[in-house]
Amino acid sequence: MRFQSQKVAYWFFATCMLLLSLQIVYGFIMGFARIGMDGLHDYIPFNTARATHTNLLVVWLLTGFMGAAYYIIPEESDRELYSVKLAYIQLISWVVVGVVAIVGFHFNWWEGRKFLEIPRPLDYLVVVNVLTFLFNIAMTIWEAKKRSTTQLVLFFGLLCAALLYLPGMIYFDNQTLDSYFRWWVVHLWVEGVWELIMGGILAFLLIKLTGVDREVIEKWLYVVVGLTFLSGILGTGHHYYWIGTPKYWLMVGGIFSALEPLAFLGMAIWALNMYRKKGKDHPNKIALYWTLGSAMMSFIGAGFLGFAHTWPAVNQWTHGTLVTAMHGHLAFWGAYAMLVLAVISYAMPNMTGRKLFTGMSGYLAFWASNIGMLGMTGALAVAGITQVYLERKLGMDFLVVQKEIIFHFYGMLLAATLFTIGITYFIVDFIRHGLPSNEALGKNVGDLD
Ligand code: HEM
Ligand code: HEM
Ligand SMILES: [Fe+2]
Repeated sequence: MRFQSQKVAYWFFATCMLLLSLQIVYGFIMGFARIGMDGLHDYIPFNTARATHTNLLVVWLLTGFMGAAYYIIPEESDRELYSVKLAYIQLISWVVVGVVAIVGFHFNWWEGRKFLEIPRPLDYLVVVNVLTFLFNIAMTIWEAKKRSTTQLVLFFGLLCAALLYLPGMIYFDNQTLDSYFRWWVVHLWVEGVWELIMGGILAFLLIKLTGVDREVIEKWLYVVVGLTFLSGILGTGHHYYWIGTPKYWLMVGGIFSALEPLAFLGMAIWALNMYRKKGKDHPNKIALYWTLGSAMMSFIGAGFLGFAHTWPAVNQWTHGTLVTAMHGHLAFWGAYAMLVLAVISYAMPNMTGRKLFTGMSGYLAFWASNIGMLGMTGALAVAGITQVYLERKLGMDFLVVQKEIIFHFYGMLLAATLFTIGITYFIVDFIRHGLPSNEALGKNVGDLD
């Protein structure tokens, strides 16, 4: 059953579309700078563009998770959201903090801690905001008419993600300690608690899209959560190899992080199996494409490409090169960007009553963006491997090597253009859906509507 308060999700998703577009603009600024077209250098130097690009990514994904939670939790709890008004206040303040942070980056108000560049005074506002969000979700679940594993795993993932933000706020004047705790946020997010959020959202989408029994789908969720904790926590060690931490991290980090792909493999097998078992065809094929696509692409980007450089003997050569950027793109895309796009694809027709999934544009969006992203990953892989060889095997100067690999950035920009065409199709469809309506949401419909 659907509820009218689910429509707050729409505004979170609209914000996602806006921030994703901006993220791509900054990606192009860097891509062009890489081939020597750096006309904006005086206003947006590479380091500012990079911090803006990656922070916009994190912010739009978090916005997407919040939107997903506002959509999923009422439905899973069988009641309206605790407070719609609070949700809007939270969204607006979230956007305000985000805009201040991004504008601040352009005036050199940021900290040189990759992915955690947001200055600490703003971190406190982030904390207040996320607490408001969690309160709203928790109250909805507290007074729920129904409990489900999906609902609880999703909530637990969001709660842990909020808690893990805190270690990144502690101030150290020691580089090793700062780095040590920075990874509690960055690593334990994407290779820990975000995987729980992913598991929860995947479970919801699979229940809705395949019509397989909830009990069967949720049993797998326990397996995914188990594999994630088993490997991901000690897997943090793959960032502790040579940063001034004890030597045993080489062994611990190597072994446990090498097990991490199992959780992603588990999700891919889970999604494909549930699809195979489906009772009936769901008309929204596009949402199914993004859902299954996310489960598979996350295994390739995070699992396979993560595994490729996680062993100390490999990582000592590849650390901090374009090999890392190669993996970072496909992992974030497959696991989290595609997942958010899956929720949006599923929720939009339900919220607006428009069934655009019958047209071609959804498929074009899916294939162009995915082939484009694979092309970008390929170009970064070749650039990265060449960089490692020239710079670290042959000992050539860093900047000389960066010149040698310019060619590959032409390829990357070409692929990025295809990617952007796909995203443009997605966003145009989003706009064509129009606004959510109470009428569309008020319909009492089954899972395979
Ligand atoms: C969806 C999950 C994942 C995402 C979004 C992701 C993303 C990233 C990003 C953005 C970085 C760069 C971080 C930084 O330098 O600050 C990174 C580094 C790294 N990732 Fe992942 N990753 C994921 C999963 C994995 C998995 C499962 C493995 C191992 C099997 C892995 C292995 C590594 C390694 C070894 C590094 C360090 C690279 C270096 O030394 O420069 N990642 N990842
Ligand atoms: C038009 C599209 C895009 C272009 C041209 C682009 C380009 C770039 C460039 C040039 C960098 C800096 C690499 C370096 O340090 O030299 C970068 C970093 C990064 N981008 Fe993109 N990007 C695009 C879209 C995306 C998307 C959609 C995602 C995520 C789903 C993403 C995730 C990242 C991440 C995680 C990093 C940091 C990697 C690291 O830690 O080393 N980018 N991007
Ligand atoms: Fe990691």
